[in-house]
Amino acid sequence: MKFTHFLTCCSLLLITLTSSHAQQSQPSIEQLLNEPFLDDYYSNVVYGYEIITDTQQHASRYVGNSLNCSNCHLQAGTQQEALPLNVAGMYPKWRAKNGKRNGIGLRIRECFLYSMDGIMPTEDAPEVLAIAAYVTYLSQGQIMGAEPEGRGVPTLPDTGYDPNAANGRAVYLEQCSSCHGQQGEGIADTPAVWGSDSYNKGAGMNGIREAAGFIWANMPVGKPKSLSHQQALDVSAYLNLQYRPADPRESKFLKLLERLIN
Ligand code: HEC
Ligand code: HEC
Repeated sequence: MKFTHFLTCCSLLLITLTSSHAQQSQPSIEQLLNEPFLDDYYSNVVYGYEIITDTQQHASRYVGNSLNCSNCHLQAGTQQEALPLNVAGMYPKWRAKNGKRNGIGLRIRECFLYSMDGIMPTEDAPEVLAIAAYVTYLSQGQIMGAEPEGRGVPTLPDTGYDPNAANGRAVYLEQCSSCHGQQGEGIADTPAVWGSDSYNKGAGMNGIREAAGFIWANMPVGKPKSLSHQQALDVSAYLNLQYRPADPRESKFLKLLERLIN
């Protein structure tokens, strides 16, 4: 083989190798954060990541409590059974909560309204577009249309007993209050679980079963899956009874505000 042929072969091989590599993996968030310059897609991905992990700083104009998205979507939305955000392939999807088919944008905007007890950003708000880019980024490698493994939170089996808020109070004081506070108000970096700085009554986390699945799989921090299913249900029933901001669907004033900004 001539030397020039050899060289052509080598470069073809190199091109094949690098292009197949580009299809299979994408830069990590850490790598992207260190890049001096990012294209439009990746700069949105990074912005979305920043909003998820520090919502207070990067999307405060839409937020009404002291939570960050990643307080519930743990590890910046990458942790299975902790409401992971690698769900781009699941949308659009019919949603009973609002009685229509939801795109990922509406799904994101609703978490601002309920979980963040805030106001709904407009459809084309840069924050919403950036979070959508981050959700797409996290969804790489998933089969579009198929439920990703560990989506949402685990569904706890029926224990045969109703959730008992009085027992839940004992669980809370023993296992949760040292971090989340006697009054559920949150301490330092640990978020509130009730009160005016918490998610509102319309939020998914205010559902006893949803909260129980989250708490059983992820709480207390450092001791996941240590509570019994019944304890997780009981403590969720206790959280559900506490004061928190009203469901905005029941507030005419907030509805009016939403109309005005949309
Ligand atoms: C060791 C400290 C610690 C303990 C104990 C603990 N949590 Fe948490 N909890 C956290 C932290 C920190 C977060 C936020 C996680 C993050 O941002 O990564 C959190 C998040 C949460 C959330 C979602 C965010 C919010 O504030 O609404 C709920 C609900 C919750 N915890 C309930 C509980 C319950 C119920 C218990 C007791 C069974 C418990 N936690 C025990 C530290 C703790
Ligand atoms: C208090 C906890 C909490 C906070 C804070 C929170 N979420 Fe959620 N989020 C949930 C729960 C619970 C669900 C699933 C239940 C439901 O559909 O209501 C969910 C579902 C989602 C989904 C759909 C996931 C799927 O499996 O299809 C997206 C997207 C989402 N949230 C985005 C966000 C964004 C963006 C933020 C911050 C602006 C945020 N969430 C803040 C609790 C929270």
